Amino acid sequence: MNSTTEINHEKLMELFGNVFNDVAGSMAIMMSYLGDQTGVYRAMDKLGPASVEEIAKESNVDERYLLEWLSSNSGRGYVTYHDDEEKFSLSPEQAAVFARENEPTCIQGLVQGVVGQFVKEDIAVDVFQTGRGRPWGEHHECCFCGTERFFRPAYAGHLLDEWIPAMEGVEDKLKKGAKVADIGCGLGTSSMLMAEQYPNSTIHAFDFHGPSIDEAKKRAAEKGLDNLEFFVSDAAAIPNESYDLACIFDAWHDMGDPVGVAKSIKDTLADDGTFMVVEPMALDGLKNNIENNPSSSMFYGFGTLICVPASKAQPVGLGLGPQAGPKKLMELLSEAGFSSVSLAAETTSNLVFQANN
Ligand SMILES: C[S@@+](CC[C@H](N)C(=O)[O-])C[C@H]1O[C@@H](n2cnc3c(N)ncnc32)[C@H](O)[C@@H]1O
Repeated sequence: MNSTTEINHEKLMELFGNVFNDVAGSMAIMMSYLGDQTGVYRAMDKLGPASVEEIAKESNVDERYLLEWLSSNSGRGYVTYHDDEEKFSLSPEQAAVFARENEPTCIQGLVQGVVGQFVKEDIAVDVFQTGRGRPWGEHHECCFCGTERFFRPAYAGHLLDEWIPAMEGVEDKLKKGAKVADIGCGLGTSSMLMAEQYPNSTIHAFDFHGPSIDEAKKRAAEKGLDNLEFFVSDAAAIPNESYDLACIFDAWHDMGDPVGVAKSIKDTLADDGTFMVVEPMALDGLKNNIENNPSSSMFYGFGTLICVPASKAQPVGLGLGPQAGPKKLMELLSEAGFSSVSLAAETTSNLVFQANN
């Protein structure tokens, strides 16, 4: 063994510790998924401190499995164990993260998205090895509802109050009555938020994944929104309706030809129309992301499994990835022919760009 291959025991133990922690974390994610899908966390939130028997009864799961599950969760700090009375509970913080769907800190959408990747792991290996594209529709359905659940709190918290007002001249038009295209809309959360907030405006929402559009239509019908219509359509083929606002939420980097799509969107806009592109938070440059962006490792993981393969499954197959960074994204918008491109807003989760003709 030469000196360059000599193992530094301290560094080895540090790395091993980190990886062991990640493996324990992966198991905790599976535990979290079980608790979410069976309603155990919600039952615990309702009950307060309770015995295994009481929680099992409330959530209708097997008592022995539940004890094992609660023990694992307690070890990870996901639930609280009260040794004196042999009871378990959720602190307010644990409830906000695991049990309460509408809290911005609810993590279950992300958990669902990750678990969905493990379900079809044979496909992930094949895609990684062969370099073939993987269309959005080839993922487990956890990917679609997990994505929606993961992104929803950011849209609910920021879209209407911060992102739209940050774009020059847009909010007034939407209040008075404007034409909006939401492209790559998935299950339509952003489309529904805008339709509810701006009843004088007409929202057309497009996605090329039929099952997502079916689900979006169902959800919109439950809300009785009559100014919102959904269409199955490729982003490059939306009709020329002189839209006042066209937007893409967390989907532009998934497209095979982001510049081509932006060019055709430019053609569908009114002369004074605006293109809003919402992308995951990222910094410029790999080193910068690795060192200074705590969520970059997770996003590069999603990029490996979902975003880059989704793009490679489409014509051009640019494979931009979810961490391209603001400089690159603005360059691509300029390449598409928009004369004015700016970063209009940013939050911990997203970058919001405004492009005008
Ligand atoms: C990560 S999801 C985001 C969905 C939604 N905008 C949201 O934020 O919840 C990406 C979406 O882009 C859609 N998509 C990707 N490429 C597309 C294309 N070329 N045309 C239309 N939709 C596309 C996928 O079907 C998927 O629903």
